Amino acid sequence: MDNFEMLIKTIENKSLETNDINILMEFISRLLHDKIPYYDWVGFYILKDNKLHLGPFVGKPTVHTVIDVGVGICGTSAKTLKPILVSNVINEDNYLACSPETRSEIVVPILINGKFWGEIDIDSDTTDAFSEKDRQFLENISKIIAKFLNHN
Ligand code: SME
Repeated sequence: MDNFEMLIKTIENKSLETNDINILMEFISRLLHDKIPYYDWVGFYILKDNKLHLGPFVGKPTVHTVIDVGVGICGTSAKTLKPILVSNVINEDNYLACSPETRSEIVVPILINGKFWGEIDIDSDTTDAFSEKDRQFLENISKIIAKFLNHN
């Protein structure tokens, strides 16, 4: 088993141990931040009243606690319902800076029965940190969360 597969197993086990979505998101944020060296900021945004609200996260505090749909990388993923990989944030016009050290970012939506519920957002201080492997890994986590929300 590679590192990503082991982390998926750990998250699946946790999702069976709790019925509190906040505890699950806190656990995932801490786990990913601590176990993957280039995941420098790990957090969740949740859709409420048509805006994205910052949920559990691990990393430096951000001023972007509420984001409009369509604004920034996070808001664009919420609008398009698609994952977004940004290899260098310097090249992005529609970008909200959380920390001056951030160089790359990945956002993966969490869809419940095709409807946007929230998203996982990861920032890295390394340029071009994320690959298709990260996208697949985070999509698997997104599916675990969707299943959890359907059953709890
Ligand atoms: N960079 C994001 C904002 C969220 S922070 O990365 C925590 C964006 O452009 O939407």
